[in-house]
Amino acid sequence: MPGHQLFDMLGRVAVVSGAASGMGRAMAIGFAEAGADVMLADVDVAGAVATAAHIRALGRKAVPVNCDVTNILSVRAMFALLDKEFGRVDVLGNVAGPGMGGAPEEIDVSVMTQVLQNLVVGRFAACQEAGRRMLKQGRGSIINIGSIGGWNSLGRHHMPYGTAMGAVIQMTRELSTEWAARGVRVNCILPAQVLNKDLEARMKTMPAMRDVFLGGIPAGRFGKPDDIKGVAIFLGSDASSWVTGAIIPMDGGNLAMNAGGSYPGGPRPMG
Ligand SMILES: NC(=O)c1ccc[n+]([C@@H]2O[C@H](COP(=O)([O-])OP(=O)(O)OC[C@H]3O[C@@H](n4cnc5c(N)ncnc54)[C@H](O)[C@@H]3O)[C@@H](O)[C@H]2O)c1
Repeated sequence: MPGHQLFDMLGRVAVVSGAASGMGRAMAIGFAEAGADVMLADVDVAGAVATAAHIRALGRKAVPVNCDVTNILSVRAMFALLDKEFGRVDVLGNVAGPGMGGAPEEIDVSVMTQVLQNLVVGRFAACQEAGRRMLKQGRGSIINIGSIGGWNSLGRHHMPYGTAMGAVIQMTRELSTEWAARGVRVNCILPAQVLNKDLEARMKTMPAMRDVFLGGIPAGRFGKPDDIKGVAIFLGSDASSWVTGAIIPMDGGNLAMNAGGSYPGGPRPMG
């Protein structure tokens, strides 16, 4: 049965970072399932190639590219390849970006510089490259991945990460305001805990963490990467044509209940 035409992404070109695994992979596949062709950026080239094979089997064009989103030159090179391969970009999914943490009184100041580079400068470089092309086209949708940790304090050695994700939220608002009248929309998704290899490993070494996290998710389960598909297709398609500058929790109800609920008892070095 065909879906609603507002969600149809046939003929659209999307570029998604972190497309080898997790939410980036799910987002890229979701766009392709909705009809889009996709460029798949990741440092895990084998993973991006595997996602590309999955998308080609759906009948869509997929181009994997080795791109380190923390390196501006690498981001620019990816967009140069995109111009060659696709000639346009309708959607940017800004997903990848390694976070860093530590006790604020102990970390080297360089940790702040690095995490801001990884999560804010890297995402901005991609927004700028995509934005320039979208402004010329008069149409485009940028989706930044933030975090509940950029909205509320997590209080568990996430200060550099939370500060950077807070900046991603404000960057989204600034860019959306600058570009809205010229057809380019910029929105931000804030996930709570979505299962990935790193999170599974951390919960294995600290089993109490699982209960603490689940205690902060009224929906009663962790997120899974596929949970991002619906929100991403909504934001990437015409279904959201009057939605820009929105900061959208994808968190099983975590922010509504107050993130304090996921962390009873105040700061301690966990997760
Ligand atoms: N999983 C969560 O609970 C959660 C919650 C909030 C926000 N986030 C954010 O969402 C994003 C994706 O998380 P995920 O759970 O899908 O992670 P994941 O580990 O499943 O996937 C991350 C992908 O990004 C790639 N990657 C890492 N560094 C890269 C770089 N420098 N350049 C290009 N690609 C790179 C990895 O190879 C991997 O394929 C991250 O920015 C993360 O901080 C995650």
